Amino acid sequence: MPFKSNFKTLENKILFSKCTCCKKSSLNNFFFITHRLLTSCNFAKNKIMKPFFDLSVEEMKSYGYKIVDLITEHYKEIENKKPVTTASREEMDSIFLQEAPEKGMPADKVLDFVMDKVIPNSNISSHPKAFSFVPGPSNFISTMADSLATGFNIFSGGWIVSPAAAELEIVTINWLLKMFNFPVTKGGGIFTSGGSMANLTALVTARRIKCGDDFSKAVIYLSDQAHSSNIKAIRVLGFKKEQIKIIPTDLEYRFSINKLKNEIAKDKLEGKKPFCIIASAGTTNTGTVDPLDTLADICEKENLWYHIDGAYGGAAILSKKGSRMLHGIERADSLTVDPHKWFFQPYEIGCLLVKNASWLSNTFSEKPEYLRDIEGNESEINFYDYGIQLTRRFRALKFYMSIKTYGLETFKEAISYNIDLAEETEDLLRNSKNWEIVSPATLAIINFRYNPLGLNLSKEILDKLNQEISARVVASKEALLVTTVLQNEVVIRMCLINPKTTILHVKETLNQCSQYALEILAESKK
Ligand SMILES: Cc1ncc(COP(=O)(O)O)c(C=O)c1O
Repeated sequence: MPFKSNFKTLENKILFSKCTCCKKSSLNNFFFITHRLLTSCNFAKNKIMKPFFDLSVEEMKSYGYKIVDLITEHYKEIENKKPVTTASREEMDSIFLQEAPEKGMPADKVLDFVMDKVIPNSNISSHPKAFSFVPGPSNFISTMADSLATGFNIFSGGWIVSPAAAELEIVTINWLLKMFNFPVTKGGGIFTSGGSMANLTALVTARRIKCGDDFSKAVIYLSDQAHSSNIKAIRVLGFKKEQIKIIPTDLEYRFSINKLKNEIAKDKLEGKKPFCIIASAGTTNTGTVDPLDTLADICEKENLWYHIDGAYGGAAILSKKGSRMLHGIERADSLTVDPHKWFFQPYEIGCLLVKNASWLSNTFSEKPEYLRDIEGNESEINFYDYGIQLTRRFRALKFYMSIKTYGLETFKEAISYNIDLAEETEDLLRNSKNWEIVSPATLAIINFRYNPLGLNLSKEILDKLNQEISARVVASKEALLVTTVLQNEVVIRMCLINPKTTILHVKETLNQCSQYALEILAESKK
């Protein structure tokens, strides 16, 4: 019985509390609660609890239903809203900046204020015309699942506290392991807040398993297109600048294998210890997949840890085209995927998968005395032993409920649809005299720029023109469409992972861009 020993530990600490009803003092909160529940204290007899934070059932229902109504209305009306919002710090301060109030106000008033001022001042990342960064399409079942997990405030750290939460994390991680052809029995994984935390968790594990305590000579390799979260993670881990090798990419934004091999050889000759390669399975800029099999061969030959960041593109494994492109992903030691991107989950849920679950427990397991009563047996996984967090929200629930409800088939169809939509967009652009494709549709990302045939505009003018087209689209708030830089050129980037986005949304936005381009060119002649 876990309570018994907790009881003893607490007893030794002697925390005095007084019952506000009968003034009886007790040793600690546990005694205090039992006293109220089991004794003749008036508080217990009348079953009255001081309502510090509690609302009546009617109040809770009315408040909760109102919020559900607001969310469903948002889903219904999303098309009629504009995805972009812009506000300065001064504007936001003028609305929100105030001291924490001593006295509360009616819940409905706070909610109305939030609906009036907070929600409209946030971009709608699930809008069909939110084309930039990595959109967050989300889905309603997972939205409600998150509310359930929060409503019941389920602790998803240790088996004994919430066996079903741990089991669902095991089950859904197994689904993912199978999807990526990782070993289900030996392999393992953990849900994290997002891709950045999954990459960090992977690299802590890689360093622990490959280097032990001494990583002074260890060198890590990644391409110039790898996501910034990897560099952040490496920095968090305390590697010095000279231990991080950023390898240039080729003309298609893939890891340059020759340059990588040269760098590894040089480092070895200098007495350094190459220990890890980070590959991208879908770069954020262009959706490019690194040569996964070739990199796996290098890792095997050189005995390096192979981490693949599939935060953006990993989910494409569910589509035929994607799974062909991701061939070799199953050879990673660790793999980041990010369900709050292309698995259509609301923020926050990222995921790290590893070939061998014991790598995680060997890296993260600590055995403090205050957790000994909830340790359980080995098959009953305590996810606090698999990663950095102890107290964790119940992330697996939304993934579980949405896959159970929609079925994998729906996810497969949606992802295939997204990939096809980007290819259709590429065809559209290629058939126009005004647009140039800079990086072709790859895993639902496409980069292009306005560069009319025959005008022979200089690089500087083209950069300015495309930057300004994007700025005007964003200023119109009709679409979120920003630029990136590829091979030193400013280009417009579209990420089409929202299944609500249709070719009509794309056409409307491209027409808007063309219109602005003509205006800008006309203005420049004045
Ligand atoms: C390839 C890649 N890796 C990692 C991340 C970081 O993921 P998160 O924003 O969930 O922390 C991103 C985010 O866009 C990404 O595209």
